[in-house]
Amino acid sequence: MKRAGIIGMGYYVPEKVLTNDDLEKMVETSDEWIVKRTGIKKRRISAENEYSAEMGIKAAQKAIENAKINPEDIDLIICATTTPDYFTPSNACIIQKNINAVNSAAVDMNSACTGFVSACIMTQQFIETGYYKTVLVVATEALSKITDFNDRKTCILFGDGAGAVVFTACDKGGIIQSHMGAKGNLGHNITGLAIRKDADEDAKRLSGDGRYLWMDGSEVLKFAVRAMTDATNKLMADAGLTVDDIDYLVPHQANVRIIDGAVKRLGIDPEKVFVNIASYGNMAAASVPVALCEAMESGKIKKGDKVVIVSFGGGLTWGAALIEM
Ligand code: UT7
Repeated sequence: MKRAGIIGMGYYVPEKVLTNDDLEKMVETSDEWIVKRTGIKKRRISAENEYSAEMGIKAAQKAIENAKINPEDIDLIICATTTPDYFTPSNACIIQKNINAVNSAAVDMNSACTGFVSACIMTQQFIETGYYKTVLVVATEALSKITDFNDRKTCILFGDGAGAVVFTACDKGGIIQSHMGAKGNLGHNITGLAIRKDADEDAKRLSGDGRYLWMDGSEVLKFAVRAMTDATNKLMADAGLTVDDIDYLVPHQANVRIIDGAVKRLGIDPEKVFVNIASYGNMAAASVPVALCEAMESGKIKKGDKVVIVSFGGGLTWGAALIEM
């Protein structure tokens, strides 16, 4: 059976940096509070006319170059995003056009911060069944466009960016095991309206505008630690391995307290956990691929390493995958 192996990666983050000091001038908060409660020091913010598709194109171009393939070789583009440019065309179609992937199918999918992991698991199915050979996964988010910068409960958390990975059919390594799930009954804990009108959602926001992200932070925090721990433990059990067998864990970067909580419960050596939240905040679906790219670039993750990616997010959803790089 063929496996879905990673042959290229790339990421892009916008130029503008928003520091905690900048936020202190915008809302009643402090660098000390933000660092202590979240681990975040700064985040990137897209320019006024810069949206998620464009960031995704830049990340995709780097991943394709890194993979040393021609765009025509791509069979499918999956774009994971919570913040697409349009309802139609999809971000994936905009990316396809701009990178000249003339032979590919293209679809968007949304499982919020779990998006990249979900897209990797979907890719695994297409490649293992032989349906497709080469798949480009792009995760891109312009969260600042749906963040209320007057609301200190959310505006300190989010950042913008994009990551992309090229998978191709290989004989060994690649995605070895995966697991994903959802609890729709907890969906009300993180909300943001699309076309629906909902006065109750509007009323929850300071701005009165339901299109901005809203969440019950402490409920999400509790869910997140459990979801990341349980998903990783299930993944390991299904693979017949323990956390001691893995070389690196790349978790979703939502709050350093969530990562620390999961790491403690899993009993994994913190030295084996990649954390870059201080520089970028929570980039939703883009957090894991950007972290994966940085971990590879810095030499922390090497070819042949067994790596677990794990995430949770709106929906509520979660996902985890064990990948031999
Ligand atoms: O993709 C979505 C995924 N989302 C997440 O992963 C978020 C998970 N949740 C969290 O990361 C945390 O719940 C937060 C960072 C959002 C909040 O941290 P917390 O420790 O749960 O704080 P809290 O909401 O319980 O608030 C504690 C206090 C409150 O004041 P009172 O009621 O004790 O007087 C808040 O009003 O901190 C206050 N507060 C702030 N103070 C300074 C809330 N936000 C801020 C702020 N600066 N930015």
